[in-house]
Amino acid sequence: MNMKIAFVGKGGSGKTTVSSLFVRHLAHRSIPVTAVDADINQHLGAALGLAEEHAAVLPPLGGRLPLIKEYLRGDNPRILSADTMIKTTPPGTGSRLVRLDEDNPIFAECAEEVRLDGDATARLLVTGPFTEDDLGVSCYHSKTGAVELLLNHLVDRRDEYVVVDMTAGSDSFASGMFTRFDMTFVVAEPTRKGVSVYRQYREYARDFGVALRVVGNKVQGPDDIEFLRGEVGEDLLVTLGHSDWVRALERGEQRPFGTLEDSNQRALRVLHAAADAAYSRRDWQRYTQQMVHFHLKNAASWGNERTGADLAAQVDPGFVLREAPSPQPA
Ligand SMILES: Nc1ncnc2c1ncn2[C@@H]1O[C@H](COP(=O)(O)OP(=O)(O)OP(=O)(O)O)[C@@H](O)[C@H]1O
Ligand SMILES: [Mg+2]
Repeated sequence: MNMKIAFVGKGGSGKTTVSSLFVRHLAHRSIPVTAVDADINQHLGAALGLAEEHAAVLPPLGGRLPLIKEYLRGDNPRILSADTMIKTTPPGTGSRLVRLDEDNPIFAECAEEVRLDGDATARLLVTGPFTEDDLGVSCYHSKTGAVELLLNHLVDRRDEYVVVDMTAGSDSFASGMFTRFDMTFVVAEPTRKGVSVYRQYREYARDFGVALRVVGNKVQGPDDIEFLRGEVGEDLLVTLGHSDWVRALERGEQRPFGTLEDSNQRALRVLHAAADAAYSRRDWQRYTQQMVHFHLKNAASWGNERTGADLAAQVDPGFVLREAPSPQPA
């Protein structure tokens, strides 16, 4: 199974911190994990311990959109050219599907193998910072388009995780990106503003069966927990307190992951268990229908006009993304 997990939340709530801790937790259990920084402000690399100079020069997915589209399109006859492929264009017969344990040109160009402490490693992909060029036609104002295309073409091969550090912008609701995950963790500080993103998410999530749990962060005591419980009820999964380990990392001091506070280690185990449990609810039929739903919506609202093509014709009506895909035609 391959689990797709998103971390969302208000700015500064700790999305990047908790994502990076979760990535380390998995990596230290030898679970293959691909970390995706889908935030325009790129901080995940640094949170995984990369030097700032190194993190700043990672090749962004957003800068490789033509290559990504050309690759994923394969010889799908319904997609006439990579230029007509938008972020919601769904795979169909002939498309190239992506497996995390394979070599492909996308990983070759963009993936960075990050060495954590000990023998642990994680693969890192970054969306890329926003630049003036993005207002051009190729990216359609979306930096996360490349991530969304990848998620929509991803199929399972073995136990592995994709962990996405994401902005909860209106972009992810319009494009359907928010429906692409087996589990979405909303990181929330125990403040009214902190839970506002949760409310917004819950509204959108309701109609699409999106699994959503709240992870309280920077929680200082019982009042904080009581507050979160009162605001989000049963959706509160677990809370993390202030971490000296995280603060040390912020000072540039890398400590072994094993020395992370016990209470925070425990919280990560709870996240892991909740994520694993979500897999049983995976429904490939629904998953594929949802991508088609959002594609048709985006095609009608801007895609057709922008590309000059009828993008609804890209939908392969008989196609369902599956757990055990048959080999690709040569
Ligand atoms: N549990 C924690 N213990 C100590 N410091 C924390 C904790 N969680 C987050 N922080 C600190 O709070 C700050 C914001 O955290 P982080 O960057 O993870 O938030 P974010 O939600 O990703 O922010 P942004 O919206 O800017 O991407 C960072 O300096 C981080 O080190
Ligand atoms: Mg962040």
